[in-house]
Amino acid sequence: MILMDHDPRNPTYISSQGPLLSTVVDFWQMVWESGCVVVVMLTPLSENGVKQCHPYWPDEGSDVYHVYEVNLVSEHIWCEDFLVRSFYLKNLQTNETRTVTQFHFLSWMDRGIPNSARTLLDFRRKVNKCYRGRSCPIIVHCSDGAGRSGTYILIDMVLNRMAKGAKEIDIAATLEHLRDQRAGMVQTKEQFEFALTAVAEEVNAILKALPQ
Ligand SMILES: *[C@@H]1O[C@H](CO)[C@@H](O)[C@H](O)[C@H]1NC(C)=O
Repeated sequence: MILMDHDPRNPTYISSQGPLLSTVVDFWQMVWESGCVVVVMLTPLSENGVKQCHPYWPDEGSDVYHVYEVNLVSEHIWCEDFLVRSFYLKNLQTNETRTVTQFHFLSWMDRGIPNSARTLLDFRRKVNKCYRGRSCPIIVHCSDGAGRSGTYILIDMVLNRMAKGAKEIDIAATLEHLRDQRAGMVQTKEQFEFALTAVAEEVNAILKALPQ
């Protein structure tokens, strides 16, 4: 599902379900064909013993999914809440290659919210630093591709608009716009409240950084 902002200068998102064993090839094909270089993963692989997503990358070295060879180049643990993996992706049909960076948030449970807004904002900052200057879509997935993914995309969209100098920010309207494109984006009241808190916290940080 491709989600657009009104502002063509802002990134487009592809929000997708967490790959299953049977859809890993489709996932890498989507990564390849969309020109994607940044993947945001918002779910642990399993939660209380219940599988949330298939590990769609190699533990070490490389794996081949149909014609896509995926090489795990590095794994950097930033903190207990998230880590960053770098993949070297090769299309074996054409020999073209691309680097894909995956930002994996580990501690956000299904239908829940992250432990702190600050940690998620820190995570988002790292994602956007990596993405900066690109025009390809950002692939965002959790397990069902709606609750956690929707919350993240809502926060990112609103903060990007603010950064571009939008004079009016209507978070509820932005969510409506997202839900028109995909039903179920942001699943719970807590998730919506979390989005408001995260935006408020970022606004506070921006105000504090202004010269007095
Ligand atoms: C890809 O690389 C292999 C090995 O170097 C070569 O045999 C093959 O012809 C190349 N394919 C294309 C489409 O360039």
